[in-house]
Amino acid sequence: MNVRVEPSSTRRAGDAAPRPGGFPLIGLLHERLDYLARVRARAGDVYALDLPGRPIVLCHPSHGQRVLRDNAANYRKGGGFWAVLRELLGDGIIVSEGDRWLRQRRLMQPQFHRKRIVAMAETVIQAIDDELGRWTIPTARFDVCANMSAITMRVITRTMFGDHISQAEIDTIARELPIILGYTLVGVLTHGLPSWAPVPGRRRFRAARTTIRELVAQLIDRRRAAGVGEETLLALLIDAVDADTGERMNDTQLLDEAVGIFLAGYETTALGLAWAIHLMLRTPSVMAHLEGEIDATLGDRRLTFADLRRMPYARQVLQESLRLYPPASWLPRVAIADDTIDGVRIPAGTTVILPIYLWHRHPDVWADPERFDPGRFDPERASDRHSFAYVPFGAGQRLCIGKELALLEGQAALAAIFQRFRLAPVDDRVVRALPTATLTPQGGIWAHLRGR
Ligand code: HEM
Repeated sequence: MNVRVEPSSTRRAGDAAPRPGGFPLIGLLHERLDYLARVRARAGDVYALDLPGRPIVLCHPSHGQRVLRDNAANYRKGGGFWAVLRELLGDGIIVSEGDRWLRQRRLMQPQFHRKRIVAMAETVIQAIDDELGRWTIPTARFDVCANMSAITMRVITRTMFGDHISQAEIDTIARELPIILGYTLVGVLTHGLPSWAPVPGRRRFRAARTTIRELVAQLIDRRRAAGVGEETLLALLIDAVDADTGERMNDTQLLDEAVGIFLAGYETTALGLAWAIHLMLRTPSVMAHLEGEIDATLGDRRLTFADLRRMPYARQVLQESLRLYPPASWLPRVAIADDTIDGVRIPAGTTVILPIYLWHRHPDVWADPERFDPGRFDPERASDRHSFAYVPFGAGQRLCIGKELALLEGQAALAAIFQRFRLAPVDDRVVRALPTATLTPQGGIWAHLRGR
């Protein structure tokens, strides 16, 4: 491929983004995120892809700081990716903007505060326990992804709805949500086509959307009818009052937010866990270190929330896995007005691609970036790396609202799994990461499961 290189050092402020040329669609389909990394190695940290609309890829953490924090007001959630999510989530917090977003964020943030999450910790741990109780040993080909999804589905349904949801309803959500996530990429590629144009998968997407929204609406009704009860996340959202206006969310807003929390919090956390297991299967020394920490802290005793503070390595394993395989591996934004980033002009209306995956492996900020080394997150080794070098939960004002819940859940799940089970590789296949709406392992992750 012909790649024209334009080193950033020769750039004058306001130059157009270099266009490395080649065939990005083919490159992206074949190599996915590695394609973006390969082009960066030749073209520099900012470049435009020869795709419709000429999106600009921003490969350095400092670019993230500009878009997500320093000049965040200039970047909106526009384009096909967010359009698909809007069809599902209406005007919920994930997709809304401006005053509407701010109002929802102010209403919801307190419900996700660390103190609230800590109060939910025992529910989370119990949900994990219940799910692990269903595992059979030995299993020769244990489907890691499916089982991690089952754990996070049980956690999110239990924390959201308490006992107001049946197993059949959980299964329905688990079946329909992946259809929606899978469709987001099609939505990006076909955005802008007329509404009558045949788009593969659209009908199935819309059916899944209706099923999920109807089911969640029923769950909200059921919770309302039950009156005061357990302190579930849904109950907290129903009761949340805007401090300025004294208003609560109406039913449509509640539905949008409840569906959004499912979408944002279920598969992401499951993938974080699945990739952590994949990395440990390939790096037995890390698995042994984790098992050692679990044995020393818990022995045969059941995990409690208080134990988690004494298990820093379990958390570091999760953090390092989220570095190498961030479930939200890229984020798109659209510039409202012209901007200049790293000397390159970003014209108004341009889509910028924020490849978190590449920032997390940028050689300027990470030593030996491809190596799986949870010790990087040891506070004693805390470095002065760029504050946007590690942003698996996004950053700036749109920082993930579920970050504390996801970290607590992920750490607890790793501790509970490796206390009871031993996982071993079934083959030495190299698993490729497919960046759709989330970063999914192609062909899944498989292990041999037995007891410890
Ligand atoms: C490992 C698990 C998770 C990852 C990697 C993750 C990642 C992210 C990222 C990158 C964003 C920012 C998106 C953007 O700026 O465009 C985000 C936003 C969000 N996340 Fe998460 N998330 C996770 C778990 C959760 C959980 C468990 C919940 C809820 C229970 C949740 C709810 C949300 C919501 C509501 C937003 C939108 C916040 C806003 O725009 O104000 N996430 N997440």
